[in-house]
Amino acid sequence: MSLKKPIKVVGVSSGKGGVGKTTISVNIAAALVKQGLDVLLLDGDLGLANVQLALGAVSEYNFSHVLSGEKTLDDVVIETVSGVDLVPGASGLKDLASLSERETSSVIQAFSSLTKQYDVFLIDTAAGISSSVVSLLGACQHRIIVLKDDPSSIADAYATIKVLFLEGITRGIYLLPNEVAGMEHAEQLFTNLNKVIAKFLGFETSYAGFVKHDDAIPQAWKKAMPIVSCFPNSESAREFRKLANFVTNLNSNMDDNGGLQFFFNQLHSAYRSA
Ligand SMILES: Nc1ncnc2c1ncn2[C@@H]1O[C@H](COP(=O)(O)OP(=O)(O)OP(=O)(O)O)[C@@H](O)[C@H]1O
Ligand SMILES: [Mg+2]
Repeated sequence: MSLKKPIKVVGVSSGKGGVGKTTISVNIAAALVKQGLDVLLLDGDLGLANVQLALGAVSEYNFSHVLSGEKTLDDVVIETVSGVDLVPGASGLKDLASLSERETSSVIQAFSSLTKQYDVFLIDTAAGISSSVVSLLGACQHRIIVLKDDPSSIADAYATIKVLFLEGITRGIYLLPNEVAGMEHAEQLFTNLNKVIAKFLGFETSYAGFVKHDDAIPQAWKKAMPIVSCFPNSESAREFRKLANFVTNLNSNMDDNGGLQFFFNQLHSAYRSA
């Protein structure tokens, strides 16, 4: 049996919908692949399957077929054109809470028996702060919270971080301002929210980097390709490569059993104690 590689498990969330979670997840994933890493992306959105659209992938099966035992994870994972491996629209994730111990161990087994070993496991979560989003984020080692400079996005990013705090999670939280005018704007947004977090919750988050507003991003969506693939010389493609470097420099999970198994154990115990 081969040794498991250490893996980084990174969740992307925002509270408010439509602020750029999927754009950021897909492009960080594609930029990491271009650096030579093996990346698995889980579409944690229960309904919309937007990640497939962004990557130009079509799938017959999704994670719910793994939960029901009809398919193995190897059957369900799609290798997309950009080289990112995708677990499509995880419409069964919310049912994890009701799995029996036996079913749960088969899910954990499904992840640990994936033929390919990954360097990074990215999870694009749904909008909102439902218990399934919080459980997914809680099971990750690292959490990127995307926000825009508008009051409802800032309030929802804060609300997400507060819920994590109430779950005892204050480490591995990074803010990522999206659609900003430039570096100063992004740093200002980060500093202001971080001050509020420090004042009311008593801890500080870290800065992940930023993405400027770029009209090439909606164009890349229309082409169903990551911008780092279809417009690699655009400004935002450069920003996504920097964000990929940021992820590369995060700690990996050194758990003996392999990071994915650890992730699902954490996720399951979060659901059990909910
Ligand atoms: N930096 C940016 N510049 C310009 N447009 C952007 C930028 N980031 C995202 N967008 C656009 O914003 C829209 C929403 O982005 P996206 O789908 O990634 O958000 P989301 O947070 O995943 O949404 P949802 O909550 O529905 O899952 C898309 O049309 C995308 O093209
Ligand atoms: Mg999305």
